[in-house]
Amino acid sequence: MRLNQIIWLNASDMMKREVELKVVNLKKYFPVQKSFLERLFSKKIEYVQAVNEISFQVKKGEVFSLVGESGCGKTTTGRLIVRLIDPTGGKIFFKGKDVTSLKGESLREFRKYAQIIFQNPYASLNPKMRIGEAMGDPLEIHGIATGEKKKKIVFEMLEKVGLEPAKKFYGVYPFELSGGQRQRIAIGRAMILNPELVVADEPISMIDVSLRAKILELMLTLKDEKNLTYIFITHDLAVAKYISDWIGIMYLGEIVEIGRKEQIFSTPLHPYTKALLSAIPVPNPKRKREDIQLKGEVPSSINPPSGCKFHPRCNFAMEKCRSSKPPLQLLEKDHQVACHLF
Ligand SMILES: Nc1ncnc2c1ncn2[C@@H]1O[C@H](COP(=O)(O)OP(=O)(O)OP(=O)(O)O)[C@@H](O)[C@H]1O
Ligand SMILES: [Mg+2]
Repeated sequence: MRLNQIIWLNASDMMKREVELKVVNLKKYFPVQKSFLERLFSKKIEYVQAVNEISFQVKKGEVFSLVGESGCGKTTTGRLIVRLIDPTGGKIFFKGKDVTSLKGESLREFRKYAQIIFQNPYASLNPKMRIGEAMGDPLEIHGIATGEKKKKIVFEMLEKVGLEPAKKFYGVYPFELSGGQRQRIAIGRAMILNPELVVADEPISMIDVSLRAKILELMLTLKDEKNLTYIFITHDLAVAKYISDWIGIMYLGEIVEIGRKEQIFSTPLHPYTKALLSAIPVPNPKRKREDIQLKGEVPSSINPPSGCKFHPRCNFAMEKCRSSKPPLQLLEKDHQVACHLF
């Protein structure tokens, strides 16, 4: 079954065709690896609750950022969306079509449309492969181009991501490149199939601060040129502010707040969002801001806290927060929060 043959959703979803990506109750649990002795004494299988029933949607041409501390499930969500891993539950819709269970040829077809820029450009490039080969590989895998035609497309992409002269970069190995250049290759490699949806997993976290703005600008230029939709993953709200239209705040595998960028920055609702914002330095110290310091460490996602998972670190926790999980609810247009304070 090819992607364009996958059955459309119901009529109301067809009305919203501009929605590029929609995830509904998406869930991923990883079984915990146990040693032989541990398995001998306990038969119980434990799970890391990496992503726990998250739902959001992104419209075509928009940037939706997923923001949260290390281990909150951002990368897992990105990998689920491009179908590198299978979800434990929930659904993924791309252009209104259910892509959750695609296999074989239809999954390969989907991958042309949905690409990922990996978190670590050092690990994601094969050290034994010349840059030209690495970038052209997807063209060959998908039967789009080989030989001279492939080379021409790679040259054009090298120039597009600012690696000129393209001829020089085509023949070099990853170790000959700087961090910024490697990240440009990673971006070019993801873009070479002309995808429509790109998951960018911390694309600037491994490169020098001085180069970060340039890479973000490159990503925005490519987005505008090709009307791309981005899922942008970052732990840094200041970066999300620069690039996003929408921001989803993740905590321990769950989305606790979603809003337009302006709403998240001007009227943050969730205490966790406020704490993340408090960590951003303020250029003008006279400006009033409600600073909230985060208490303690992120708890384990194997045995997460009951009720609201944030309650042990929350300055406003009430009795209810310990026992009942607050649902994500719409508080004002486009702005959702999961917190018992509201
Ligand atoms: N393949 C796996 N097997 C077992 N556990 C996993 C696997 N991948 C991720 N996890 C666990 O799932 C949780 C979420 O991990 P994930 O990498 O998605 O977080 P993240 O938000 O991207 O973190 P970071 O900011 O450090 O990249 C973590 O507790 C992690 O240890
Ligand atoms: Mg990650």
